[in-house]
Amino acid sequence: MTTEPSDSRDLPTNTTRRSWLEMFVAMLLAIPVLGPALLAAWVVIRPGKRADPIEVMALPLAEIPSDGVRTFRVQYRRQHGAFVEDVERVVYLRRKGNNVIALSAECTHLGCNVHFDAANKKFACPCHKGTFDLDGAVLGGPPPAQLRRLKAIVPTDAAAPVRLEI
Ligand code: FES
Repeated sequence: MTTEPSDSRDLPTNTTRRSWLEMFVAMLLAIPVLGPALLAAWVVIRPGKRADPIEVMALPLAEIPSDGVRTFRVQYRRQHGAFVEDVERVVYLRRKGNNVIALSAECTHLGCNVHFDAANKKFACPCHKGTFDLDGAVLGGPPPAQLRRLKAIVPTDAAAPVRLEI
């Protein structure tokens, strides 16, 4: 003797319940497989918090001019999650009394490297004609902010290099 559903409306309800149960079981079974995969992906691609500053050696104070700027190339290694990145940046150094002004060459508009225009004593961006004064303040063009100033630590020993936090 077979049992027929007394009411055809019962069938969709049973099917829906079964579907939910099957989906729940499938999700439970997927956790051991997907969990480690998602964790590995997070470790590799997670957006890193702003990296801690790295200290690099620049030049002794005596080698940094006060009437112009000295171009200095900084090379360092930075880690973002599982990625290790070798970075090279251009920094402009200028002496102001016993202090050093260290400016990142990266334009604050779209990131091109600015050049020092010695004749006009200003920084000029070749991409969209942004200009900055010797302290990095915007003189003209589209840049929305001054050039990024790096912390420069001047040692008491005049022969020792100035340290930069980048
Ligand atoms: S990137 Fe420098 S002005 Fe646009």
